[in-house]
Amino acid sequence: MTDLYAVMGNPINHSKSPIIHSQFATQAKQDLVYSAMLVPTEGFEPAVKDFFKGSGRGLNITVPFKENAFQLADKLTPRAQTAQAVNTLAIQEDGSILGDNTDGAGLVRDLVMNQNVNLAGKTILVIGAGGAVRGILQPFLEEVPEKIVIVNRTVEKAQLLADNFKELGNIEAKTFEELDEPFDVIINGTSASLSGELPPISESVIGEHTSVYDMMYGKELTPFLKWAEQAGAAKVMDGLGMLVEQAAVSFEIWRGVKPDSQQVLAQLRAQLADK
Ligand code: ATR
Repeated sequence: MTDLYAVMGNPINHSKSPIIHSQFATQAKQDLVYSAMLVPTEGFEPAVKDFFKGSGRGLNITVPFKENAFQLADKLTPRAQTAQAVNTLAIQEDGSILGDNTDGAGLVRDLVMNQNVNLAGKTILVIGAGGAVRGILQPFLEEVPEKIVIVNRTVEKAQLLADNFKELGNIEAKTFEELDEPFDVIINGTSASLSGELPPISESVIGEHTSVYDMMYGKELTPFLKWAEQAGAAKVMDGLGMLVEQAAVSFEIWRGVKPDSQQVLAQLRAQLADK
């Protein structure tokens, strides 16, 4: 029987995971089928249980089920535990389900390996304090930056995150008004770009050496990256690489083989430009 993998979410029709994982499988000569599954909002748990009863070996989990997957998993990796969200499920030999979160590792890999942006010893500004940001803070702090500053429209949420993660490194919350100096690396983890909006941030955070990353991506630069470029950022990057790298980490967890993410990323980038 061919091993089955899938991404579960709602909606799911725009997911690029089936394309990414199918290409990884071809490259790495892995016999598997990866599909997209639309799951009703109230039907997540039975869908997962059914999947693993058959030939299902692993799942990616996307909006709105990452917290449900966190609850459902029998065991959690430490990074999934701190993220309180799971984007990868893997069936274990004893039939138990392991939950992991590869989003943060994917972002760190994209920055360090693909973009040559190191985080060690750097000053990092993280904008946003939702689920996406919670998922990246532990992998970021493991790179030992000089400091991480979190800002968010709702200040209390940034403060809560900084308090939660302060055992793991130098991390503090600030208000947008308090920001008055350039950072080495800026990460936009808000969903503002989705609605074409910008976080209320001053250009003073951008210096001539500042690298700026938006977790969102699109055919064109996101509004945030356009703003950063105009403000004089040294380098602007979108989240397509994070998408491919988090998939690569999931693929390794399931199959024990490292796929060639660069090739798939180049292909996706070309497809996006053609649209
Ligand atoms: P996700 O799981 O994708 O992180 P989320 O938990 O809804 O989604 O978080 C969205 C983040 O984007 C939050 O930090 C939100 O700020 P608030 O906590 O103040 O709501 C931020 N956000 C969304 N739209 C924004 C906008 N137009 N300007 C600034 N921040 C925005």
